[in-house]
Amino acid sequence: MMEVTFHNRESEIKEIMNTLSVKPRLITFIYGPINSGKTELITNLIEQLPENYVVFYINLRGKFISNYDDFVRALFKLDREKKEYKEILKTISEVSLKSLKFAGIPITEGILDLFFREKTYEDVFEFLEDYFTEIAENKIPVLIVDELQKIGDVRINTHLIYELFNLFIRLTKELHLCHVFAVTSDSLFIERVYNEAMLEGRCRYSLVDDFDSETTLAFLGKYGFTDDEKMMAWEYCGGKPVCLIELINTGENRRERVEEMIGIRTGQIEGLIEDAKAFGYKISYGAEEIVLNEEQILEGLEPFRTKDCLKSNELSKPVKLGLIKANILFLDPVKQIIKPQSRLNLLAIREVI
Ligand SMILES: Nc1ncnc2c1ncn2[C@@H]1O[C@H](COP(=O)(O)OP(=O)(O)O)[C@@H](O)[C@H]1O
Ligand SMILES: [Mg+2]
Repeated sequence: MMEVTFHNRESEIKEIMNTLSVKPRLITFIYGPINSGKTELITNLIEQLPENYVVFYINLRGKFISNYDDFVRALFKLDREKKEYKEILKTISEVSLKSLKFAGIPITEGILDLFFREKTYEDVFEFLEDYFTEIAENKIPVLIVDELQKIGDVRINTHLIYELFNLFIRLTKELHLCHVFAVTSDSLFIERVYNEAMLEGRCRYSLVDDFDSETTLAFLGKYGFTDDEKMMAWEYCGGKPVCLIELINTGENRRERVEEMIGIRTGQIEGLIEDAKAFGYKISYGAEEIVLNEEQILEGLEPFRTKDCLKSNELSKPVKLGLIKANILFLDPVKQIIKPQSRLNLLAIREVI
């Protein structure tokens, strides 16, 4: 297998660096289709940050959060060296060798126990405010929560997500203490966020999409693709990094591999239509349960026979929700457009209809 290294995200990195170079005022939501490279971009960016930044990167991927304890566990990380609280903060503020990165917010056993005993958000959020205040005296704290939608529906007394948004607003707009980035691939979640009154004027949106054609061709050029192979890869995979990497690693039989990938995706979409025909395709949206039949699914796919992307209002709400939930379509609430999650999905849709 070839070692694939991080490829050009200059404009996205520049945009985030600009945000980081001024004092925190807004929450930044980083969104985009599945596997477009959001996490990769953030991970790479963290590595490049100068020494005066302290990054707390929390990835909720694979975490199951249904109650208060799960949430506290996801957010914090026990400092194994059994330091005192003041000592932890002191280390964070004083070490100046390079920028610091933490997967989870380091705290002492005592504080963690206290959180588990008291079980109130106020304690946790007050603590975080104090924590970032102390760090901000010497450094610039950056809080990044990846896959934030994982707590979108969690309700513990009140909706957790709103409590968290309140904290984020306090940290940015009100106190200018800490940069806050929230990352998500979930279009329906980002749509909710976009329409949320409490966030109005308090956040900005940054799209991390698949590579454009120029970036894609340059990326493939680094791995010895011929012009023909580059064109084939762009035709089938568009600029979806994972898909391109798959081709890079395939070596010889690249055309067979892309055809196989399209075959698999086509089969999955056909399976979904078959389910819709037999049982109705069920999705939950908040408290609603929506059931789509075969005709509705096909109605949602049909426009893509000739188009690559639609205006958001061109599909009826249930159809749109269903195809987004099935990860076939991606909705950009900022630009108000719907498009397939990837070029591969577009081609598979065309196979199906
Ligand atoms: N700029 C890039 N350069 C090289 N590989 C990338 C790049 N962006 C993404 N990838 C590859 O694509 C995969 C999916 O990216 P990821 O960041 O996990 O997507 P997302 O977080 O948007 O769902 C990663 O495992 C990584 O290997
Ligand atoms: Mg990710």
